[in-house]
Amino acid sequence: MTASDRLIVALDVPGLAEAGRLLDRLAGEVRFFKVGMELYNSAGPSVIELVRARGARVFLDLKLHDIPHTVARTAEVLGRLGVAMFNVHASGGVEMMRGAAAAASRVAAEMGGEPPLILGVTVLTSLDRGSLAEVTGADRAVEQAVVQLARLARDAGLTGVVCSPWEVAAVKQACGTGFLAVTPGVRPAWAAGSGDDQRRVLTPAAAIAAGADYLVVGRPITAAADPARASRLVLREMEEASRA
Ligand code: C5P
Repeated sequence: MTASDRLIVALDVPGLAEAGRLLDRLAGEVRFFKVGMELYNSAGPSVIELVRARGARVFLDLKLHDIPHTVARTAEVLGRLGVAMFNVHASGGVEMMRGAAAAASRVAAEMGGEPPLILGVTVLTSLDRGSLAEVTGADRAVEQAVVQLARLARDAGLTGVVCSPWEVAAVKQACGTGFLAVTPGVRPAWAAGSGDDQRRVLTPAAAIAAGADYLVVGRPITAAADPARASRLVLREMEEASRA
């Protein structure tokens, strides 16, 4: 895979018009976009068509979490919409994850295409040891919980997980190098101090060196004065790190 197959830009904008403007500015540079809850709930499936019509792929970040039947039916819908990647909470359980994977594969076979890559969400990076213990009743290191949920996702037949770049090594060690690690929390050195809420960050080069398969980058590109130039800088850094 080239760097441009591995860079996913987060389209964190409120609506279709803003998404279209950002896609225009990144045309020819970025080929994979993440659509999150805000944009999807505002624009609906049209935003997926908008991205796909420009020849780019969609990671639909809706973090599905419900009973297996409901999630499987939703996975079928997402498969028909042609998303390349989507995610489900690993804490929804093995049956839920298996159902999603089976439904997506069934639709892909029916449509004669590749099934979407399905990722497990392990522990939200907004949770720390204390808040995780509050939720689960078990006091243990976040990384331990991440690895346990990643193993569950692998056993259920998912393609990989979303995790912090700092957790990639532990996930790969537990689940194998072929199990994908998709990492947000990426901050190029030149974007440092963009005064935002990401804490445990790594540069694109360091995330690639840590073994991340796909990098999700939002504000360092989308909030840059020249997003196309920012994306080229990130891509160059990723390419250099992949060759190293
Ligand atoms: O702007 P920024 O580069 O921080 O965007 C990162 C994207 O990845 C956002 O859409 C954010 O919601 C998402 N994300 C994250 N941390 C996670 C999971 C998703 O930052 N653990």
